[in-house]
Amino acid sequence: MSSLSPQVVVVGSVMQDMTFKCTEFPARGETVVGRLAVGQGGKGSNQAIACGRAGARTVFVGAMGPGDFVQQVQSVYSKAGIGCRLAVKRGASTGTAVILINHEGQNEIVIEPGANARLAPADVPRKLLEQSRVALVQLEANLTTTAHVLRTARRAGVTTMLNPAPMRVDFDAGLLQHVDILVPNETEFAALVRGRPGFRLPQFSEPELHAMPANQLHALCRRFEVPTVIITLGRRGCFISLADGHHRLPAYGGMKVVDTTGAGDAFCGGFAAGLVEHRGDILSAARLGTAVAALSITKPGAAASMPTRAAVQRFLRSGKV
Ligand code: RIB
Repeated sequence: MSSLSPQVVVVGSVMQDMTFKCTEFPARGETVVGRLAVGQGGKGSNQAIACGRAGARTVFVGAMGPGDFVQQVQSVYSKAGIGCRLAVKRGASTGTAVILINHEGQNEIVIEPGANARLAPADVPRKLLEQSRVALVQLEANLTTTAHVLRTARRAGVTTMLNPAPMRVDFDAGLLQHVDILVPNETEFAALVRGRPGFRLPQFSEPELHAMPANQLHALCRRFEVPTVIITLGRRGCFISLADGHHRLPAYGGMKVVDTTGAGDAFCGGFAAGLVEHRGDILSAARLGTAVAALSITKPGAAASMPTRAAVQRFLRSGKV
């Protein structure tokens, strides 16, 4: 990790992923046989790795329980030249995710946050945040700390980015006033809409979102009063709502889907790196995020599937659409 100040600080979760590859997801009451792989995950950490590998000077801040996995995580970061500050919480276990992958590469995930829930504001050096250009958070670690990071970064003029994943019942929409760029997926966006009583859309669903004409979706995004809203739509690409208009960016077609775990994280990390590289240009950043996400689904695992900058550049040069 270089001694220069970071361009992107990612504060969030790190998990041990127990991934079971099976042909079909088990039906209720059914047992199926799968192949187990244990790897590094957590939305925060995945995003930091995607961002650092895509070329931005990145530091990840997270919390783990004591144990051998701490060294393994540190070694992944140091090999990738990405900064990492891990608070080791005595008496807590490292967060764990159980992930099922079916033959189409689609996933289902259950997490136990463990030490992530104990990530404290004091674990995030204020100076680190204030020196960065972009601060990126999710909802998988401690929510008080998430709010603290957004407020502190905003006050310092740092671009704040929230990926509201996973959506939680204790999510406080007041957090959005500190957010410059909101990046939900379709499920999270629908939940955010339903959760705003003032919107009067208590039944809003993903199919409604998909059926909405772009200008109406843009108007709905504007009601959050967040400068930029980007809805990631899986194989449909993403919808970008800016103060002065809206855009749709297609996903790359024809990718061989191996494992979609962390594709949203790949987009967020790639996008944050793109914001730095393209000096805040949202569309260029989203193009980079889209390419990083496209490559991530062609490899197994979460952190392990994040492409290097060289791979992303080769892919972009190949002109694949
Ligand atoms: O977004 C994918 C991640 O969600 C996995 O790596 C898992 O750890 C869960 O946090």
